[in-house]
Amino acid sequence: MRIGFFELEDWEEAYLKEKLKKHDLIFFKDELNKKTVENIRDVDVVSVFIYSKINKQILSKLKKLKAVVTRFTGFDHINVKECRKRKISVFNVPNYGENTVAEHTFALILALSRKIHKSYERTIRGNFSLENLRGFDLKGKVLGIIGLGHIGKHVARIAKGFEMKVIAYDVKKDHKLSKKLGFKYTGFNDLLKNSDIITLHCPYNKKTHHLINGKNIKLIKKGAYLINTARGGNIETRALVRALAKGDLGGAALDVLEEESIIKEEVQLLSKNFPKENLQNLVENHLLLTFDNVIITPHNAFNSKEALQRILDTTIKNIKSISIKEPCKNLVK
Ligand code: NAI
Repeated sequence: MRIGFFELEDWEEAYLKEKLKKHDLIFFKDELNKKTVENIRDVDVVSVFIYSKINKQILSKLKKLKAVVTRFTGFDHINVKECRKRKISVFNVPNYGENTVAEHTFALILALSRKIHKSYERTIRGNFSLENLRGFDLKGKVLGIIGLGHIGKHVARIAKGFEMKVIAYDVKKDHKLSKKLGFKYTGFNDLLKNSDIITLHCPYNKKTHHLINGKNIKLIKKGAYLINTARGGNIETRALVRALAKGDLGGAALDVLEEESIIKEEVQLLSKNFPKENLQNLVENHLLLTFDNVIITPHNAFNSKEALQRILDTTIKNIKSISIKEPCKNLVK
């Protein structure tokens, strides 16, 4: 098979060449977009990461395409419906990093609770004053987890280690799990009202678009903290900025932002095709950066050595399953 890989580092390229010797591989450091697609019009498979948007326009250029293999859990960057229509299979990597993302979630929670970001900023300037650096304990605090899937479960386990009280909201309930891990299911609004820290671990889709929005953000306990390592679109950024500006929220830690690719590549602004509606998001994201009780990491929660190795190994298995036409559990249905 001829396979186009996008958004890869050198070490990953070397590993894939070694493991997929039988195939014809082409590598690109950039994402798959309307420019780069011109170099791979005859491929059978594309393997991409989150910044490649696989939309109708891209798919229409790839007439021989049999499969899209994302090296990520979330697949909201792929138009799965359009793939299905064109009989193109979509594969993902469901379980590479539940502990990895959960650990990053706690890195964010601890950074906020112990003001690590502010302490660091101060000590590198030789200032060892404790002024405004008082934090708070996690022990005894209520952690509200939205989405108790692979990652959410790990977050609950770690929270128990800190002796936090854990409450959870999920559209599906697993009472055995709640007993085993010692958390209680609650309604969505009750979770907002009763949590000291709220953390999001649900997928992003039509139903979870702006799950936390201008209306319900007002229900959140005054001074509570909001953590998002799921997807930027799960939170209405405008509502978040307002709640922070009014002091209703104690702070926020975000690994993901709405339309985060734009803040990463602001040069896109110069393009005459830049959609005006995205400008609002860009401004809101810049406002978030100005709050000293907001910590933003650049969609980095997955990024551990071990997780990346697991991603590559699963991607190789997914690709091999296509070539031998074997059923694969990582096929997105
Ligand atoms: P998962 O599919 O195992 O769990 C998601 C959970 O959310 C499920 O229990 C599901 O029932 C629940 N859910 C679905 N709709 C919901 C709703 N409307 N309200 C509440 N709960 C709902 O997914 P996993 O592996 O735990 O990942 C969660 C999300 O984390 C992914 O969808 C992805 O967007 C994000 N992620 C972020 C990474 C990062 O680097 N920041 C890395 C990996 C994943």
